[in-house]
Parts: sequence; C-alpha cells; structure tokens
Amino acid sequence: MTDSEVKYGLAGVVADDTAVSKVMPETNSLTYRGYAVQDLATKCRFEEVAYLIWNRELPTKAQLAAFNALEKSERGISPAMLTLIGMLNRHAHPMDALRTAVSFMGQADETAEDSSPKGLYDKSIRMFAQIPEIVAADFRVRAGKAPIPTTKDLGFSENFFHMCFGKVPQPEIVKCFDMSMTLYAEHSFNASTFTARTIASSLSDIYSAVTGAIGSLKGPLHGGANEAVMHMLKEVGGAKNAESWMMDALAKKKNIMGFGHRVYKKGDSRVPTMTDAFRKMVDVIGTPEAREYWEMSRILDKIMVREKNIYPNLDFPTGPAYYLMGFEIPIFTPIFVISRITGWTAHVMEQRAANKLVRPLSNYVGVAQRDVVPIEKR
Ligand code: COA
Repeated sequence: MTDSEVKYGLAGVVADDTAVSKVMPETNSLTYRGYAVQDLATKCRFEEVAYLIWNRELPTKAQLAAFNALEKSERGISPAMLTLIGMLNRHAHPMDALRTAVSFMGQADETAEDSSPKGLYDKSIRMFAQIPEIVAADFRVRAGKAPIPTTKDLGFSENFFHMCFGKVPQPEIVKCFDMSMTLYAEHSFNASTFTARTIASSLSDIYSAVTGAIGSLKGPLHGGANEAVMHMLKEVGGAKNAESWMMDALAKKKNIMGFGHRVYKKGDSRVPTMTDAFRKMVDVIGTPEAREYWEMSRILDKIMVREKNIYPNLDFPTGPAYYLMGFEIPIFTPIFVISRITGWTAHVMEQRAANKLVRPLSNYVGVAQRDVVPIEKR
C-alpha cells in the first residue's frame, strides 16, 4: 500500500449502505427516510420524526398516539440512577456524566444483550425516554438543586423544559427547541454514528454502542462545537466588536467554531430553518441581550462568508439559541444527544440487520521488522 491510497479521516470513503438518511453535498441538503429535514422540522413535532427514523414512515394519528404512550411508559429513571448522578464529579463535563449514566443504564438492564429487532427497538425507546431526565437531573444537581421528576402529562420537548426549570416556556421557545431536536436527529456516517456502528459491528450491545457514540460526539470538532460557538460569542462580547474580532481571528488563522463542514461546502440546509426559529425566539424574548446575540451572529456569519467563503453549520445558530433558552453552556452537547439517540440507534438496528465487522486496514509507517535483543544484552 502506498501513502496516496490512504484516505485520511476516511474522507470520501463509502463504508456501507444506509436507508436512514441521505446527505447530498451537491445541493447541500439532507433527507431522513426521503423527507427534507427542513420540511420535517417545520411541519412535524420531534416525536413524529423519531417515529419516522425508527419505523421508516411518518406515523398516522393512531400510530403516533401509541408511540407517545410507549415512550411515556418508559419515562422515569431508577433511584439507583439518581444516586449515581448525585455521586458524580460535579466538575466533570456533563457529557462525561451522560456517558457514565448510559453505561450504567446498560449494566442495569437485564435485556441489554437482546439484540433482536424488537430488543433493539425497546432499548432505543428506553434511552429516548430516559436520557432527557438524566441530562436534566445532572443539570440541576450541579446547580445544587433537587432533580424534578419526569411527568407523563407533557410532550417530549415540553417535558425536558419542565425537568430542567420546573416550567414550560412560551410556544415559540419550545418550537425552536423542538426544531433543533429534529435537525440534530440524524446525519448519516458522521464520527459518532460511525462509532456506534463500529461497536455494533462486533455484535456488542446497543448501550455500548451509544456510550461510545457519546464519547465521540463530545469532541469540539463534532457535537462539542455548539458549546464552543457560545464561548466564542461571549468572547466577542457584542455586535460592535464582531467584525474586528472575526478579522483578527482569521488573520491569526484560528479555527472558527460553528463554521465549515466535512461534507457541505456551500452551506448546510439545516441552518436557514434553525436560524429562522432562533430569530423568532429572539423576538419573543425581546431582551437587549437576546438581540445582541442575534446581531453578533449575523455579522460573524456575513464576514466569514465574505472573507473565506465558509458557511455556518447547525451548531452556529443552536449555540446561542440554547443559551437564550436558559441552558448552561456545558449542557448543549448532552442536549444534542437527546436528539441524536434516534439516529444512532436506527443505525445500530441497520448495522445488526446486515452486519459486517468494521475492520479497515492501516498503512504501517513504523520501523522495519527487527530481532529482539535479550534484556541482558541491551
Ligand atoms: N474556521 C477557519 N477555517 C476553516 C474552518 C473554520 N471553522 N473550517 C474550514 N476552514 C478552512 C481550513 O483551515 C482549510 O483551509 P486551508 O485549505 O487554507 O488549510 C479549509 O477551510 C478546508 O478545511 P478542512 O479542515 O480541510 O475541512 P474539513 O472537512 O477537514 O473540516 C471541520 C471540517 C468541521 C472539522 C472544520 O470545518 C472545523 O473544524 N470547523 C469548526 C468546528 C465545527 O464547527 N464543527 C462542527 C461540524 S458540524
């Protein structure tokens, strides 16, 4: 093998078939099971999209009611999980806490090794129903507050706000959050999904696959970018500084968080929909702080496109949107998990249905073969 044959970062490599989503770089678009994501985000609730991702079709009213009832029946984390959350290091990143909690869920679930289609589906719904409560409980415990138990009276997104803050905000804010859930749900063979599929390919269990995927998503080049965007906006400090900050950062060849994409080179189709929801939310909040973050984002976006022809990705509008919803910055990536659990688990199901162990080759660049000299002669 020669160096030229190595596909660094697996860039351009088609590793398997998938029917879950399609990324079309030529049109910068994305579909889940054939539906454009922006269409789904504006016309459906996230529960419908989750159903679609797992069941291949959008639900009828009766199917959605049954699905919601199933999800609600799985809500409610165990007392042992609450104890675990209370024991975790409060200075650790919430993604580390979530990774530990999902791994804990796996060892507690006696059906963990059941990877039949039904077994995988049941556990996917269980994680979908319980991960939001884990994230919310950890969020409150870190702030020295008591966790708020889940309720079966509220929809998926409303329930998450309730568990975090004890109340549900205005509909435009819930809609913005719900749309972000749909837009984050699935994205073909990104690093975390490929990690989940790689783990599933060894016939390991679905909790192990999701635990590994959480570790992958945590990195700032992947899911962690929404947090990094917010740190960046705080550093910029205001709309009046935005242009000079960006020009200076570009002159110093800094990596600007929330911009660029391995696949989309001319813009990400999820961004206009999310940006529109963010703008509507800013109008409803109406505070000077909200308007400042909106203005700052607009300027940074404009300068980056003008200077580098690099477009924002989904993390760019979601970072400040989550912040203005009242979430602490380190919880942004766990919020991404609340959504992406749908895509990851659909891929685990797909991998297991037509499994081939993932095992690429490597190009060895170390020393040539040599003899071992016994220790007394070294
Ligand atoms: N800020 C500044 N320059 C960037 C950039 C960014 N966010 N993203 C890409 N570029 C530049 C690179 O420096 C490179 O320039 P060069 O050709 O002069 O060296 C060029 O654009 C190509 O970038 P490259 O890093 O090869 O693209 P990639 O496909 O490997 O990287 C990302 C994709 C996502 C890793 C990269 O765009 C990035 O780090 N973005 C910021 C993190 C982020 O928002 N991640 C979330 C992704 S959804």
